[in-house]
Amino acid sequence: MSYQNEDIARAADVLLARVDTLDDKAAILRAPELGALYAQIRTLPNEVKSSFGAELNALKTELQARVEAAADAAVELPLIDVTAPMDANAPRPSLLPNEQGSTHPLTQEMERIVEIFGRMGFVAEESRELDDQFHMFESVNFPKGHPARDDYDTFMTVETDGASDPFIAPAHTSTMQNRTLVKYRDQLERGEAIAAIVPDRCFRNEDLDARHEHTFYQVEGIYVAKGVHAGMLIATLQEFLQSYYGQELDVRVNPFYFPFTEPSFEFALSCPFCKGTDAACKICSGEGWIELLGCGMIHPNVLRMAGVDPAIYTGFAFGCGIDRLVMMKYGVEDVRHFESAKLDFLEQF
Ligand code: PHE
Repeated sequence: MSYQNEDIARAADVLLARVDTLDDKAAILRAPELGALYAQIRTLPNEVKSSFGAELNALKTELQARVEAAADAAVELPLIDVTAPMDANAPRPSLLPNEQGSTHPLTQEMERIVEIFGRMGFVAEESRELDDQFHMFESVNFPKGHPARDDYDTFMTVETDGASDPFIAPAHTSTMQNRTLVKYRDQLERGEAIAAIVPDRCFRNEDLDARHEHTFYQVEGIYVAKGVHAGMLIATLQEFLQSYYGQELDVRVNPFYFPFTEPSFEFALSCPFCKGTDAACKICSGEGWIELLGCGMIHPNVLRMAGVDPAIYTGFAFGCGIDRLVMMKYGVEDVRHFESAKLDFLEQF
């Protein structure tokens, strides 16, 4: 870096040369030359004070960078041979010798969900962890400026130039509706239904509590054919939930609103912890029901945008929170346990 002010330029030459010779490199930041230059600021005419100060700070930053680079270079990392046989006597703070890890509970449950839907004829698709505005919003019928966009507390990069498309961490698995419909739409002409699920990770900028995590899992379901109606949606979900929980369950279907389904419904299960008797219940907040999923008949605009003719085909979609499904199965009181990396919790599964 070249400095305009002569005094600073001179000090830069001297100090940058000296730093290489010092054992204690940080001592350069206490060099008397630097202190003298800072003291000089007071004596300067007002017009030059700020440019002088800025250059002096730049010099200090440059010196600091040298000090840090030297410190980084000095750290020697021990070599670890990851292929070496395990030493059973080595201290292991968290895992006992010879103990093996296991599949995370959410992964185990996702595999079970994929298997149940697989038996019902649904193929599984993967989502992605970075997506774009079109798939998060437009393709599922949230035009620009749609107020429901705010309901999704979406993490996205800031558009600095106002023109480029921000990166979006998907706030629901519905981001995959358009891609899935486009991928399989040829099947419709052959008289086959589109039947797909998307179990994957979602992200929302939420206030965290026992029921809300910034990172969570959903399974999206998409079914399109000729003559699909809401009764088929409800029957499919009931079949899935009974198979997953291995028992008959109380479910409640209420009207709801999503831009991408019409009509839309909210599916709730009765609270297995308090059955609605505890006003302070941590799981259902005393409501007696736990909203498990949103669903509905796919909006004609969503079909149209994916090149599927809504005059010929209809379909249903649902999006179910996997964490909540699993919490209710095992009586997990706090969703944050899943990502907490606590072995005593994970080992129960
Ligand atoms: N994507 C919605 C959500 O996360 C759920 C949903 C999916 C609703 C599909 C209807 C159809 O809130």
